[in-house]
Amino acid sequence: MYEYLQKLPKCEHHIHLEGALTPELLFSMAQKNHIDLPEDDPAFLSPESLTARYRDFSCLDDFLGYYYIGMNSLLDVADFEALAWDYFQHAAQDGVAHAECFFDPQAHVSRGVGYDVVLSGFKAAQKRAQAELGISSELICCFLRHLPPPEALETLRSSPVQTSMKSGDVIGIGLDSSEKDFPPQLFQQVYDEARALGLRCTAHAGEEGPAEYIATALDDLRVQRIDHGVRLAEDPKLMQRIANDQTLLTICPISNVYLKCVTSVAELPIRTFLDAGVQFSINSDDPAYFGDNYILANYRAVQDAFSLTPREWAGICRAGIKGSWCDETRKKELM
Ligand code: HPA
Ligand code: ZN
Repeated sequence: MYEYLQKLPKCEHHIHLEGALTPELLFSMAQKNHIDLPEDDPAFLSPESLTARYRDFSCLDDFLGYYYIGMNSLLDVADFEALAWDYFQHAAQDGVAHAECFFDPQAHVSRGVGYDVVLSGFKAAQKRAQAELGISSELICCFLRHLPPPEALETLRSSPVQTSMKSGDVIGIGLDSSEKDFPPQLFQQVYDEARALGLRCTAHAGEEGPAEYIATALDDLRVQRIDHGVRLAEDPKLMQRIANDQTLLTICPISNVYLKCVTSVAELPIRTFLDAGVQFSINSDDPAYFGDNYILANYRAVQDAFSLTPREWAGICRAGIKGSWCDETRKKELM
């Protein structure tokens, strides 16, 4: 069965490129770029101690603290290219055919790294992934919900961001970072303006936050996908609505265990979603922070917990292709 899972033409919709920064890459880039790592945290003694600390996240915010420190090591175009290339190589090994990748421009621009530096690096890796690995990919610009919404608007309206969206280098927007106490509706204007530009829209909701955030992401942000959304099972009426509308959830099983949203993959409502006709894809989220578990490890963990049939897996992959934001020609190739 594992071999069957490896061979399935997988679409990944929920991968934060900054979350593919391995402790080894983090340390080598910090050294190259003369970036000081925190001296008061023993986790930063070595890649090994950092890896050990990553096994012990207490919640989403505990992880995010390390995630934002980690990405401070990324400085020039080559760093961003190396980061994304490292991800694409893992993706190829795991049988990914198409990837739609998140990135967090606010976390780079705020520390003086230009948006175009980030984008140039990612674009170079995407081009190489297409040419050498046959992986098609798209970029989704995420806004950080723990920062004031006017800052997200300012980022969206900035000239390099607008240029990348109008050219198609960036095809959609997302909303990530701390969820609790940062409801989706705070970002309604950002989503209205992005939609007016013709962008696709998604948002993290129902990871740590309540099912109600899934409803407000749909109603106020008018998103076409929901990232995570595992708490949807707490609201059967909303679950039926999502199933009827065929809104894709981008589920990240191992992430949910690492960030203590559930105690095991078996606790996730995968069977409930299948029975209710909820469409979902299986994804890695931040593989370098969650035990080096890329997409295939997530497929395997779901298989170990739920013993799905090949027919059910084929259905999951088909839903993923349908819910992808690539053009119709590419979708036909993937089917
Ligand atoms: N949730 C919210 N924000 C994030 C995540 C996540 O799983 N990963 C990276 N940023
Ligand atoms: Zn995520």
